[in-house]
Amino acid sequence: MAPQLLNAAALRPLLERRLVIVTGKGGTGKTSVAAALAVAGASSGRRVLVAEVGRDEHLPRLIAPGTAPVGYAGRELLPRLTAARIDPYAALGEYLGIQLHVRSAVELVLRNRAFRQLMDASPGWRELITLGKVWHYEQMRDPSGAPRFDLLVVDAPATGHGISFLDVPRVVVSAVRSGPLRRNAELVEEMIADRDRTLLLPVALAEELPARETAELVAKVRSELRISLDRIVVNALVARPFPPGLEDLDAKLARLPSEPLWPGLPPPPVIAACAAHLRSRYELNRVYLDEIARSTGLPVVPLPFLLSGIRGPEDLRRLAEALLAVPIAEAA
Ligand SMILES: Nc1ncnc2c1ncn2[C@@H]1O[C@H](COP(=O)(O)OP(=O)(O)OP(=O)(O)O)[C@@H](O)[C@H]1O
Ligand SMILES: [Mg+2]
Repeated sequence: MAPQLLNAAALRPLLERRLVIVTGKGGTGKTSVAAALAVAGASSGRRVLVAEVGRDEHLPRLIAPGTAPVGYAGRELLPRLTAARIDPYAALGEYLGIQLHVRSAVELVLRNRAFRQLMDASPGWRELITLGKVWHYEQMRDPSGAPRFDLLVVDAPATGHGISFLDVPRVVVSAVRSGPLRRNAELVEEMIADRDRTLLLPVALAEELPARETAELVAKVRSELRISLDRIVVNALVARPFPPGLEDLDAKLARLPSEPLWPGLPPPPVIAACAAHLRSRYELNRVYLDEIARSTGLPVVPLPFLLSGIRGPEDLRRLAEALLAVPIAEAA
């Protein structure tokens, strides 16, 4: 399918969605982006739930350094911001406990090794149960009947090429005729496919392989899933290294005599090599940022590379500022 071109300025702001599912390959910055979005949502007065999917917890410590793990039960880390970790086994226990009304028996079954081995080998249930838990959060109401959370941010597991995570409900709906499993899958599928409610937010890096993988991911989402996709976050872009008018600083340095300009300073060829390295990293990033915009036909949201990494609230604020800026429309 030819990429559709979207008007970047007309895009609905990220914070106006109800559910944002952050996805991408391993290490692209999903957790950092999810945390930044959650903090921005809470700062804007929204009640936010941010859920990290999987066994490990990285996200809470970015939002509140030094905090204890939040676990499956979750905890409010900042005013209006609750973080939780969705562990599929814990979600399964909760689900079965509700369905069977016998929590203690369920705990026993879940601890059973043979049962675990069977489940570890079974496809699909983790995805369905995880999304079921997200659906449950989305449905939560406070005593006044208002949604408990205005914005839900899901830090999804790293994608291979499969966004199988999101496809499982549809597969279940088409394979199972009736019963609670089908009903659950239908509700989850409805939530995922609702373009007003839900957005898939891929996070990519502006490098050759990640750029190609992002194009493949977008093509797959378009052809196989019904989830809305309206921009790509391109993370960790190196800043322009030299001020305007000095774009060829490395070339200028390379023309200087090779003796140090000042005692103790490295000789100009060394400084020139460093400068050339910086410039080439910057230029490569730009090439692949354009490539991602061109190959997907989607607006891109560039995020800066922060020299010290993403360690805490101040870094999240910097990411959030860029994340909420108007995306760049398709590159030339
Ligand atoms: N914009 C950035 N500038 C500098 N460092 C960054 C940036 N974004 C992320 N990082 C660093 O890159 C590493 C990976 O980031 P993060 O954990 O957010 O990625 P991830 O996609 O969630 O990884 P995983 O797939 O392992 O869950 C971290 O060390 C983080 O501090
Ligand atoms: Mg992560």
